[in-house]
Amino acid sequence: MRTQIAAANWKMNLTLQQGEALLKGILSKAKTLNEHQQIVFAVPAPYLQAAVNIINGTKNVFVSAQNIYNKKSGAYTGEISVEMLNSIGVTHTIIGHSERREYFNEHYKFLAEKVDIALENNITPVFCCGEPLGIREAGTQNAFVAKQLEESVFHLSKNEIKKVVIAYEPIWAIGTGKTATSQQAQDIQHHLRSLIAKHYDEETANEISILYGGSVKAANANELFSQPDIDGGLVGGASLMEDEFVKIIEALK
Ligand code: PGA
Repeated sequence: MRTQIAAANWKMNLTLQQGEALLKGILSKAKTLNEHQQIVFAVPAPYLQAAVNIINGTKNVFVSAQNIYNKKSGAYTGEISVEMLNSIGVTHTIIGHSERREYFNEHYKFLAEKVDIALENNITPVFCCGEPLGIREAGTQNAFVAKQLEESVFHLSKNEIKKVVIAYEPIWAIGTGKTATSQQAQDIQHHLRSLIAKHYDEETANEISILYGGSVKAANANELFSQPDIDGGLVGGASLMEDEFVKIIEALK
């Protein structure tokens, strides 16, 4: 079975004390994970080390950065490198979140470089794609997300792309309370998987975890995660609430 993942994206929220309490609370209540289930906590950069310490090697639980820079080191004031993540035991990073694309003008090539440097340094990219409302209304979402994959991850080898987690997040569903219906999410995630199969092969496509993100909550997680091409969620708002996120973890296949 493909790896099923409950990924929390805290974004720019919580103080260190609140974050530590939330993490400890979730870990104490979360069910024991199966071999193929994982939890990933993408916490703000100043809390990465604290999160690694709290998780303390718990099986199948990982700490993720929310962003990295596309260079190994150097005069890039304020940026975070993969080497820094390696040195403190962080194993994942989100790349290409729609908020980074929109507010920080992160484009295809820059994101492709981030994916490359992450993989070269054994950091798992959680690569986000997803269309804005206008594209969905025009009905051209399939071509839109195809281009996002083509331009930023399809240059990878078969072995490399198998290490990438993809998160489909329709922008109109992020933080809006508007979730894509489970059928809408399934349809486009099936499309993403078939694009991978076409570019690589079926076996590769069947190994890659594709998460859904956009107003995932306890009340809709079961239905979303029961879809064949949805392998868990990338969760913003609901990941800041202990009981909500624990229930989302319980909904993993
Ligand atoms: P949301 O955010 O769950 O608050 O919609 C998801 C995300 O942006 O990753």
